[in-house]
Amino acid sequence: MKVGIVGSGLVGSTCAYAMVMKGVGTEIVLIDKNRNRAQAEAYDISHAVPFANRIRVTSGEYQNLKGSRVVIVGAGVGQKPGETRLELLKRNEDVFREVIPSILEHAPDALLLIVTNPVDVMTHFAWRFAEQHGVPPSKIMGSGTTLDTARFRSLLGIHFGVDPHHVHGYVIGEHGDSEVLTWSLLSVGALPLEEFCRVRCDVDKEIKETIEYRVKKAAYKIIEGKGATYYGIGGAVSHIVDVILNDYRAILTVSAKTPEIEGVTDVTISLPRLVGGEGILDTFPPPLDADEHNELRKSALVVKSAIDELDE
Ligand code: LAC
Repeated sequence: MKVGIVGSGLVGSTCAYAMVMKGVGTEIVLIDKNRNRAQAEAYDISHAVPFANRIRVTSGEYQNLKGSRVVIVGAGVGQKPGETRLELLKRNEDVFREVIPSILEHAPDALLLIVTNPVDVMTHFAWRFAEQHGVPPSKIMGSGTTLDTARFRSLLGIHFGVDPHHVHGYVIGEHGDSEVLTWSLLSVGALPLEEFCRVRCDVDKEIKETIEYRVKKAAYKIIEGKGATYYGIGGAVSHIVDVILNDYRAILTVSAKTPEIEGVTDVTISLPRLVGGEGILDTFPPPLDADEHNELRKSALVVKSAIDELDE
């Protein structure tokens, strides 16, 4: 199964590498306006194949996307130290005006997986082009808060001394400063948080604030230290593509066009969604407490106002 990756910088190439090491797909095509970069990344990653999984890794032009089941879009600029994801909007909007129509022309049947930040707004923007080609919103998703949910679960797993796969917590809303950690829904194994804490360990206000801070500021901290994030998002994207290609029917907090949430209409944000071979199969707005409803409304309004800045 073929996967295209448009944008072969640190994020795009790490997505490709993660897929090779995990055995996701059978063919990966890397596209970039810098052809030498795409070719060099494909060449380098293909040298890992003998130690990993038999996946053909090449570079090419948009026409080489033909037949892709999924096209990952990581083209555009990333955050500089201290820069918010929303501040990338205008520059990446211009990039998408060229990239998205070219993808739709050469891979009209592919699912689009948007990674470029601000990912919720960029996913909405991509959907606008796709809608003109009759592509349903279920086939256009963004990585959204999939990575934030993983960060939330892994920090909780460390605190509890439990495998994070058995910590069921979700981060929803904007993939950004207004994202919502849904503490009220948290469960560990079969126990809601309060019950679990009666048995094993507590989560007091200070711990909650520390985990909240570390999830929300993770990218800023990493970017301060090494200039960009790419391994976490590469792992998240590789997982999403694996779920799609194998129709695993996983519930992931991916970003997608949402008709209405918390009274905000036509907005693109992350909610728990059933993801399979055909894209997004269902969306499950979670039963939040009053504070979380209010936070999610604020988050949806942040994304909505950024969407309103998009030029027609
Ligand atoms: C991060 C980027 C993908 O959160 O926004 O690492």
